[in-house]
Amino acid sequence: MKHRFAAGLVICFAAAVCLASCSDSNAERVPESKTESGAVDNKVGSPETEVKTSDAGVELQLDVSDMRTEYHVRPIGMDEPKPRFSYTVQPIPMGGDVPMPEVIPPKHQTARRIHVKETKTGREVWDSGWVETGETIQIEYEGEQLKPFTAYTWSVEVKDEAGRAFDSCDTCTGPYPFSSTFETGFLGTPWQAEWIGTEPHSENLRPVPLFRGEMPAVEGIAQARLYITALGLYKPYLNGKDVFKEITATSSGAMSVCMTPGWTDYYHRVQYQAYDVTKLISKSTKNVLTVSLAEGWYAGRISRLWSDGNKPTYGDQPVFKAELHIRKTDGSVVKLVTDKDWKYRDSAIVMSDIYDGEHYDATLKTEDQPYRDAVVFNSDALKNVAIEWQSGEFVREMRTLKPKSIRKLENGTLIVDFGQNFTGRERINLRGTAPEDNVIRIRHGEMLKEDGSLYTDNLRSAKATTTYVGRQEYEPQFTFYGFRYLGIEGVPASYDNISHPGFMREDISAIAVYSGLKETGTFTCSEPLLNRLFENILWGQRSNFLDVPTDCPQRDERLGWTADTQVFANAATYNMDAAAFYTKWLRDLNLCQSPEGGYPSFAPDQYRYAAAKGNDFFGYASGWSDAGLIVPWILYTKYGDRRVLEQYFDNMLKWLELQERNSGGTYIIDNTVYADWLNMDANLSSAFVSTAYFAAMNTLAARIARVIGREDDARKREEIFAKTKKAFRGRFLDENGELKEKTQTAALFVLDFDLCDEPERQGILDFLVSDITETRKNHLSTGFLGTPLLLRVLTENGQIDLAYKLLLQTSFPSWLYPVTQGATTMWERWDSWNEERGFGDVSMNSFNHYAYGAVADWFYETICGIRPITDDPGARGFHRFRLKPMPGKELKSASASYLSSYGKIESAWERKENELVWKFTVPCNTTAEVVFPCPAGRVPETPGITFDAEKKLWIAAPGKYTVAIPYN
Ligand code: BGC
Repeated sequence: MKHRFAAGLVICFAAAVCLASCSDSNAERVPESKTESGAVDNKVGSPETEVKTSDAGVELQLDVSDMRTEYHVRPIGMDEPKPRFSYTVQPIPMGGDVPMPEVIPPKHQTARRIHVKETKTGREVWDSGWVETGETIQIEYEGEQLKPFTAYTWSVEVKDEAGRAFDSCDTCTGPYPFSSTFETGFLGTPWQAEWIGTEPHSENLRPVPLFRGEMPAVEGIAQARLYITALGLYKPYLNGKDVFKEITATSSGAMSVCMTPGWTDYYHRVQYQAYDVTKLISKSTKNVLTVSLAEGWYAGRISRLWSDGNKPTYGDQPVFKAELHIRKTDGSVVKLVTDKDWKYRDSAIVMSDIYDGEHYDATLKTEDQPYRDAVVFNSDALKNVAIEWQSGEFVREMRTLKPKSIRKLENGTLIVDFGQNFTGRERINLRGTAPEDNVIRIRHGEMLKEDGSLYTDNLRSAKATTTYVGRQEYEPQFTFYGFRYLGIEGVPASYDNISHPGFMREDISAIAVYSGLKETGTFTCSEPLLNRLFENILWGQRSNFLDVPTDCPQRDERLGWTADTQVFANAATYNMDAAAFYTKWLRDLNLCQSPEGGYPSFAPDQYRYAAAKGNDFFGYASGWSDAGLIVPWILYTKYGDRRVLEQYFDNMLKWLELQERNSGGTYIIDNTVYADWLNMDANLSSAFVSTAYFAAMNTLAARIARVIGREDDARKREEIFAKTKKAFRGRFLDENGELKEKTQTAALFVLDFDLCDEPERQGILDFLVSDITETRKNHLSTGFLGTPLLLRVLTENGQIDLAYKLLLQTSFPSWLYPVTQGATTMWERWDSWNEERGFGDVSMNSFNHYAYGAVADWFYETICGIRPITDDPGARGFHRFRLKPMPGKELKSASASYLSSYGKIESAWERKENELVWKFTVPCNTTAEVVFPCPAGRVPETPGITFDAEKKLWIAAPGKYTVAIPYN
């Protein structure tokens, strides 16, 4: 199928790339009419947009790529009844071999049409008709009811600004060029499989069982799917082959999945996964499915540690269920499902636990053990656990790291340094050279002590140890560690010559394990320390995005703490495409909400404490529970996801109503046990923090209400904000409008959340500035809640120089201090380690905590100036966005990019002798509102950029721009 419009038309290029000359004219004098390049008006159906040429002769068409269904590329087992589609458009030259010119023309979509068909029959189940819009994301399916276990193909046609339609690119092959697929799963139909497990017990740290089921040979096989889930962790093998490894090999280079089915609120739901196992099915003999089943998040120590007497919380023991569906060529389906006929025996994994590690003993010869009958479990509690599709990202073995050095301590322990703190596990291979019963013990640490031995005090009760008996390759299967260093005991004498390079390169490696999110952000600048800080933030995210956004990966915690999540989510969603990841987590957060309205302090909440308690260590708390509003809002601002706002808005109100009730009509709330957590000797009262946050959350709720069209609620929230502001003002500011509690965070809250009257702002800002500059000699004192606001609030209040000074501060406490000390990840505390006192409070001291990494959003939004336009529905998901870099004097250059849902946005500036050169890219089908880093009078005249007199803003059409701004 080829493009539809009549051949021969030539689309010419706009001169969107230009080295602009500086004009003395001030902004107001810039003509409002479109420039030669034709400022793109993204209004529906403006086919006559003028598109003139600087690079004549190449025909262009719109190409469509990155087609997704519910954020996933070609998902299988997808159970969303109204899936949302998205794609991106970009111009490409017509006619195969024609090279794309350097100049990117200002093209955009003016209309689209989507067709959905059943793949097998070709029957159309939805034709959206032509919709005049530039939007290419969050398009909700509105066709016939989808059928379970059915493959669908969706395709899209787009029209460009000249009204020409494209449904394929010139060079595409295949029947549906702009097309993608999705396959449904159970879609609410019942499972035939039953939950099975070993004989009933309630202990943990037991051997990992291996289950086995088989089905007779099947003839005429067309395809096979494995649907499987566990309350625990499972790993399947089909006819002896590791399903995870095999499907990886066939799915375009993706890394092997692990830690399935992930962690959800198991009281209410668990995710199942679907795998295409057609290639693993035997066409001639019986098919045998074996599954190992570990305790994982469901029944291991992580779910018991703080419960009364270390008892199981979710359930006594792990169970799983699986259905292998073999579809025959005649359309019939034969199934192998878990039931009482399944058998099990122990595997060689003697113990596996998320906190404690794994013990594997190859000498056990477990394959010789007799099989026992599996036990079917069908308690009411299990019946109440909904089995839902895998909407989040798979956890995968994402990277392999090689040792940077290996040293031997006097006691014989080998210390292996990977040069990077991260989350994962080691892979060790003795290549058959050791005695068969050789025992190796591997401990994991993030730091070394002064004597060079492993520092493990901060792991608290987590044993974090691999014990391996054997002499071949081994990598733990059902656990993960947070580490940079290994301490290995028991390496056989044959390995004594550790300088043998083969030992380093081949025999020990490490696998970084995390949720396989696509990285969407880059940042680099002329200051190497800042570049390393950015890299550390990325590693903090990689290390703590392991199915759930966690606080840390190493000690006996690793929980989805909600404040950590909410403060980091804005940075996180620049760094990576976290749409599916957070959407999945938000479902659990909301399921964990108590009937009264309390969101928990961590989700999933294995203790169910949030249901009952406020002002309790595990209960609900201001700044933490408010993630229930903040994270959906961030998903809306980044991905244009209105659905999460609609879906959870009533839950948000329930939380705010609970807070209001708790205040007993005073609008003074007092329920955060953590307050401005881990600040530098600058505590704030719980009441200050809670009341301020309550006010801010009402403002946010009003904005959310407006986006989803709930005007009455918006007004009500604004009224409550006003009452809270008054109460706050009366209680926490004195008669002169000065803070009674004088900390940097206090000032930041008041300024950012609008909690004082206008004339009082300056005084509060003055206090903030003097506290930073004079009292603390250009240092911060903020904790978890204040830190993410610090640079932004200073910037918004005319203190950009001070913001840069704080960011670039290298002495303690600061963001860069750990970098100067060799940190490779973000630390939990400003003083996790310092020269003066050494290690910080060992009772809680992680070297891999992302919260203070929230500062990365300032790199994108302020240093390079890429940011969303938040409250205008037409702008959502970066369809229209802001470019407003604010170069710091201390930096010579800086460059950032963000792969938005509409395409890649770039912004890079560099100081040259007499000018600042700023290069930026506005992707096809978007518009940028540009604020130049210079006074209005010095804005260079730039083809492709026009002045919008009404908004008093410069508007840039899609294109690549280079502008030179003279200093004077
Ligand atoms: C976690 C934090 C969390 C806090 C609650 C800690 O143990 O690691 O990051 O937010 O508890 O105060």
